[in-house]
Amino acid sequence: MSAPLAAIDVHSHVYPGRYMSLLRARDTVPRIVARGGQDRMLILPGEDADSSTSVGRPIGSEYWDPARKIAFMDRHAIAVSVISPANPWLDFLADAGPVATEINEDMETLCAASGGRLYGLGLLPIRDPAASAAELGRIAGLPHLRGAVIGTTGAGKGLDDPALDQVWAAAERHGLMIFVHPHYGLGNEALAGYGHATLLALGFPFETTAAITRLILGGAFDRFPGLRMMVAHAGGVLPYLAARLDACVAGDAHSPVRLRHEPSSYLRGLYFDAIGYQAATLAMLMSLVGVERIMFGTDHPFFPPHVENAELDSTEWHSPAVHRAVLRELGPQAEIAILNGNAKAILCIDLST
Ligand code: URA
Ligand code: ZN
Repeated sequence: MSAPLAAIDVHSHVYPGRYMSLLRARDTVPRIVARGGQDRMLILPGEDADSSTSVGRPIGSEYWDPARKIAFMDRHAIAVSVISPANPWLDFLADAGPVATEINEDMETLCAASGGRLYGLGLLPIRDPAASAAELGRIAGLPHLRGAVIGTTGAGKGLDDPALDQVWAAAERHGLMIFVHPHYGLGNEALAGYGHATLLALGFPFETTAAITRLILGGAFDRFPGLRMMVAHAGGVLPYLAARLDACVAGDAHSPVRLRHEPSSYLRGLYFDAIGYQAATLAMLMSLVGVERIMFGTDHPFFPPHVENAELDSTEWHSPAVHRAVLRELGPQAEIAILNGNAKAILCIDLST
């Protein structure tokens, strides 16, 4: 068998050391607690209520040590990763401008020291749109950063809040990618009782779907046609529901929506990771937005295999294996475009170093 093609992973997370210190110093979610001789990460809403040793998720140096990121990449034939701080970013801080600047500089330093293996997305003090717009200007000056990751709450009123127009304008002006990623889940009350699985499998993509739908219907992409936005987890369920959205908007005689084009057409201007887990999902996304808008991702170090921490780096993880297998099913042209060709072009990544 030939060697696997070198991939570029555009959905890969870190918690930079400074961010870890911030979480360790807190006594409400999001925070890190020591339980049963192990650090556990409590980042999801409501996790504080559980005092058991199995609360939250175990967290080890695979979340912050770049050497372990590279070990994972080597194990899975990933040449380059575009790393982003993981959720919940700085959503919980009202005055996060200074710490965002420091963490973004940490991200740049970490990527610059990687010998061409790591590029990054920064984070934003998103509750303060003016500070976020200014931070994007700083990110544009950091040579290894390609944009910023954000959640779905914006400054507290969602992503269609007009107060965020200055953020979209700054991203558009600097040509930076905005990666929209879920954290809170949507419809959680209807999903309870089945552990993390329903939140992650359904609540997360529902949240992303609602956030991007609101952005589209609110006209952000008419006002900022050059805005570059990447949507997590293959677009949630929005690609699947896009035609229904068009029909419902068109069929609403009292619709407040005033767009230049049909809602679904704006999907063709977005970018997506390929975290869809099945060929049918990716084939649908491709038919809707074009193969050239989709890029390989793993979500590392989330969804680890059930082995001892020391064995993580030498074990094959499910996510990269299944996403590669899905791309093989889509045929060689789509496989190479999604594995690395698209990310090279879209995020200006040099694979030759
Ligand atoms: N769980 C998270 O909290 N974040 C991810 O990115 C994936 C799983
Ligand atoms: Zn993720």
